[in-house]
Amino acid sequence: ADLSALNTFGLRVRAARLLRLRSVDGLAAAIAAPGWAVGPRLVLGGGSNLVLRGDFAGTVLKVEIAGRRLLRDEADAWIVEAGAGENWHDFVRWTLVQGWSGLENLSLIPGTAGAAPIQNIGAYGIEIADRFESLDAVELDTGARRVFGLADCAFGYRDSVFKRSPGRWLVTAVRFRLPKPWRAAMRYAEVARELEARGIAAPTPLDVSDAVIAIRRRKLPDPVEIGNAGSFFKNPVVDAAHCARLLAAHPAMPHYPQPDGGEKLAAGWLIEQAGWKGRDLGPVGCFERQALVLVNRGGATGADVERIARAIMAEVEARFGVALEPEPVFVG
Ligand code: EPU
Repeated sequence: ADLSALNTFGLRVRAARLLRLRSVDGLAAAIAAPGWAVGPRLVLGGGSNLVLRGDFAGTVLKVEIAGRRLLRDEADAWIVEAGAGENWHDFVRWTLVQGWSGLENLSLIPGTAGAAPIQNIGAYGIEIADRFESLDAVELDTGARRVFGLADCAFGYRDSVFKRSPGRWLVTAVRFRLPKPWRAAMRYAEVARELEARGIAAPTPLDVSDAVIAIRRRKLPDPVEIGNAGSFFKNPVVDAAHCARLLAAHPAMPHYPQPDGGEKLAAGWLIEQAGWKGRDLGPVGCFERQALVLVNRGGATGADVERIARAIMAEVEARFGVALEPEPVFVG
């Protein structure tokens, strides 16, 4: 099966076998079928956080489990559920139109609802962990079903228990806790500025969503038009002394104090200062409007992506003594 259209980087690779899963029963049947235990497996949602190094010799499990509903109307929250295969952004907009708000800062993030908790997607001051109730998952080796609560997921910055044990669990449904009364999450100055520019003093959840969409469209490439996997590196955290040394040389460097005393740096800023913004290496480029994003200029392979990623990491390490860590998952 051709995976070109199933990974947002647009890497032209094939899988030995592709299984489209439309229900939990369908998954159970696949696990019970002879031959299930044979060969590697790859769970695929929207394919938006993935670099395929080459053809995949095993079975790709494409999660297409649909469904979205209000589960409970509690005194202090709405509990809303999404099937793992639901498109994330469509689900977010649907909740907002229904009046169940709280996910608006996470508008326009590519991918599926089931993939959202895997890397604890986050943007504009909110991450999945802040709105999470529970999820259903199936252990692929055994077929066992399990419900994960907030603590079970061990969420971190772009991290979870699922990301640390790739391929063990397949998420089938996710439930969100959307607090009442709604309050806009405005920690991120850029969103406040965008609303101000639109002349909106008392924003509704849909206003916040529209502002986030506008900001993302300005900075981030649409994967339908140009292949990419969003932010390619995590924002690195360094200790306070390291940050102070860097600030002495670069007073304008963005830095964000962390609860543990460390300082989170902006990988995009480091990459831009290292001279990579807008530059290409072979068919892969460092995006001209946001240096944290690598883009496929046409016909790239996983090896091409890896080559530019390594070159950028080496340059940032040499200039700032900071080790960048890729955000997408490499397969193969
Ligand atoms: N910056 C530069 N040059 C660049 C890019 C950024 O100097 O080319 C500076 C900006 O001026 C700003 C700082 O770096 O001072 C932070 O930039 P921005 O607000 O664009 O956010 P980011 O840190 O680059 C993170 C997430 C994004 C998320 C935004 C908004 C990570 C790895 N990325 O990007 O998430 O949308 O914040 O919250 O944490 C993703 O993970 O795929 C993603 C897009």
